Parts: sequence; structure tokens; C-alpha cells
Amino acid sequence: MPTRREFLATCALAGVAVGAAGRAAAGAADAREAEEQPEPDAASRAGRPLVVSTWNFGVAANAAAWRVLEGGGAALDAVEAGARVPESDPANHSVGLGGYPDRDGHVTLDACIMDDRGRAGSVCFLEGIEHPVSVARLVMERTPHVMLAGAGALRFAREQGFPERDLLTEDARRAWLEWRREAKYEPRANAERHDTLGILARDRDGRLAGACTTSGLAFKLHGRVGDSPIVGAALFVDGRVGAATATGHGEFVMRTLGGFLVVELMRQGCSPQEACEEAIARIAGDLGSDPGEVQVGYLAIDAAGRIGAHAVRPGFQYAWRDGEREVLVDAPAFFGD
Ligand code: GLY
Repeated sequence: MPTRREFLATCALAGVAVGAAGRAAAGAADAREAEEQPEPDAASRAGRPLVVSTWNFGVAANAAAWRVLEGGGAALDAVEAGARVPESDPANHSVGLGGYPDRDGHVTLDACIMDDRGRAGSVCFLEGIEHPVSVARLVMERTPHVMLAGAGALRFAREQGFPERDLLTEDARRAWLEWRREAKYEPRANAERHDTLGILARDRDGRLAGACTTSGLAFKLHGRVGDSPIVGAALFVDGRVGAATATGHGEFVMRTLGGFLVVELMRQGCSPQEACEEAIARIAGDLGSDPGEVQVGYLAIDAAGRIGAHAVRPGFQYAWRDGEREVLVDAPAFFGD
């Protein structure tokens, strides 16, 4: 494995190559770059729609997003449609309806959305609304703000006509009661099974967008907000460069502003894969020889449609779809591969 210094040197060289080939005719140069440096799926997707999502439930999210993209719809509409799928799935215990509650039995949701023009909307610590991603979108489109929290976010959702419902399902309540039997306070990451839905799309016109949605750490302290609603942490989009999303232990992503980091590294010439690896290295490098329970996964696409993904530990999966193909991939990992 290269040292971080060697890795960054490699990335910087790639940056020179991209810079020399591109800039003047960015679209065509991006396509050539993708062909010359095949990514894990070994294909250039320049000019074609693409959607990628975290975890195996990303397959269903991608299918919903694809219905928008294949009809020529906007990436922003596609990622919202995709994120709404796990939000409505009661069997998914880390997103929306059926999400595991906090220590006090409240299901509190975080979500954000961002487009290629740098517009962003976000809600955090929101209760009683099944589709926080759609509330986040309206924060972006109908207010001068980026983020609304808690009671204020709920009030805004009510004003916008979102229906309210109890999001704590019987399954999730049973799991919470079981957890409460243990004497010690220990929130649990759902990362072994799944976690945040992060979804990134590029539409037929080359526009990028992304969204994230989660109920956060199971049995967290009441009031805890994770990385998912933080623009630049679990999600960042730059229409000229690419988009990145994160899943896993949000505190590690927030401390390193991982989504922004991945996109910024791509801007400097890293491929999506190189950028994800460097962002993971900054977390994993501080964990010593054993990451314990810590898991973070990054997923990124660039403007040419190349995909990158990397995780602290094995187990992180992502799904991508470009029309002809629908693929679920095991992401490579810093530890244990
Ligand atoms: N990545 C989700 C969270 O930490 O809340």
C-alpha cells in the first residue's frame, strides 16, 4: 500500500494529466480520461445518465431514480425519488419509517440534497415526517436558508403540507426495548447491515445532484445529529467536478468534512477512486492497526461518470445503474482486504 505522501504524489500527477488534456474542452477530455484510466466498472459513461447509491438497498433507490433519468428527467428529481424509497421502507432500520429510535425512543431524521449549481437544503433532528429529503428540497427551493432543525423543521414541513405520522414501527420499538435492557449507554452503528442512503446522479444533460437520508445511529443520545444533513460532510456536489456521499459513523465524516474533501481532491486531479481512498486514509490512518467497530464508506462520481468507492472495513456495498447495467459492488477497504 502506498504511503500517503506517495499516494498524493500519484494523484497530483493525474491532476497534471487531466489539466493538460482538459480545461479547453472539458467534456471531451473527461471522456478520454475515463477511457484511458478505466475505473472499477471499466467503462466511460460520458453523455449517459448514471445513478449510484450506498448499500444494497441502493438497488431499489436506483430503480426509482432511473425511472426519472431514463425519461430525460433532472438529476435532482432522480435523487429525491431514489431517497424516498428507503424512507418509506419499514424493514429498513437506518432510514425514515422503521428507523431505530434514539435512546429515548424518538425516531429523529437527518437528510440533505444538493444540485449542480451549489444549491443545498437540509433538515436535521426532524420527527414525524416520512420524507425528510423532500422537506430538505423545499428548504432549498422555498427559503433563503440551507438547514432547518428539530421543531423548526417540523413546523416548516407542516406549513408545506407534509403529512405527519408515527415513524416508530413495532419492530423498531422491540429492538429499542431489547437494547434498553443493557445497563450501559452504547449507541450502535448499523453499518454492518446498512446505514445512510447516499445517492448521486448525473442526468442526460450532464447535470449532477445528490441526496442523503438517515435515522442516524441507533439509540443515539436525544439531540444527536450526524453527518447526513451536513453539506460538505456526507454530501457535496460540484457540477463541474463531481459529487460524493458518505455512510457509516458520521462523527468521523464530520470531523474530516469527507464529502467536500473527496470532491476537492477530484478537482485537483484525483480520480473518484483515488479521492475516496485518500479521504478514507485520513480516517483510518488515525485508528491504529484495528478499526474496531468503526466503519465509514465513501462513494463518488465525477463529471465524466467515473465511479469511486472506498471504506474503512470490508462490508460496504454500493449499487450503480447506467441503463444497460444494474450492478451491486463490494467496495474495497483500507483494513482487511
Ligand atoms: N451516517 C449516519 C450517521 O452517522 O448519522
